Amino acid sequence: HIFPDAADVSEAVATLIKKLVLEAAAQGQHCVLGLATGSTPKEMYRHLVRMHRDEELSFKHVITFNLDEYLGLKPGALQSYRRFMQVHLFDHIDILPENTHVPDGSLATDSPQISLRCNEYERLIADAGGIDLQLLGLGRTGHIGFNERGSSCESRTRRVALGEATRIDAAADFFGKEHVPRYAISMGAATILQARRIVLMAFGEGKAAAVAQAVEGPVTNQIAASFLQDHPSAALYVDLGAAAGL
Ligand code: GLP
Repeated sequence: HIFPDAADVSEAVATLIKKLVLEAAAQGQHCVLGLATGSTPKEMYRHLVRMHRDEELSFKHVITFNLDEYLGLKPGALQSYRRFMQVHLFDHIDILPENTHVPDGSLATDSPQISLRCNEYERLIADAGGIDLQLLGLGRTGHIGFNERGSSCESRTRRVALGEATRIDAAADFFGKEHVPRYAISMGAATILQARRIVLMAFGEGKAAAVAQAVEGPVTNQIAASFLQDHPSAALYVDLGAAAGL
């Protein structure tokens, strides 16, 4: 889905999510959303907040699972994805706090607890009935979540090492690349691909090469987003800039 600009994409994706939330509520079911952070979904989240405020869209029966979290940060840390989600969405809607899940990044990077927590995260997703819609942004190198080059299509939630380009892109948030964590916890490619439906959003010419490789290139573990080609219900929502290489 190619739209003239990012604002149109954000509105279209928020409208799609609203529809899924309302459909699930009408059937007396939970809607399970996989959520992403970064600059890309911010405006879409603003629309969801507006829909809650002005259109009585309720999130009481929504369960969320975020893709990833930096490792070695406290949940309240300025750059933590938990904090991002509170500030941009959760604090402004009626979602139950216990229904929001973000991987726990507060463990030490070498803690033996990490793999236990990652397995528990997978179990929580399964117990919720799986993810109905997984929202994705796109890293400049074609990663989804923090599934960097070499991530297997069978990977699950785990500790990952961040690539050089990813750390450079995050440098501004951390006031210098040297402060960007070296590790994160990320849902794996297989975790993402298990979602019943996937929406990948990307904006701007800086993402055009990654979008083109993901959509038209070979399916390869060098570009985790290319795995989406094999998903039965994955859609790309982009502006003209991000579509420039197609
Ligand atoms: C990080 C996140 C991804 C996100 C990507 C792009 O790598 N882990 O989930 O999609 O950044 O971020 P942005 O939307 O700011 O371009």
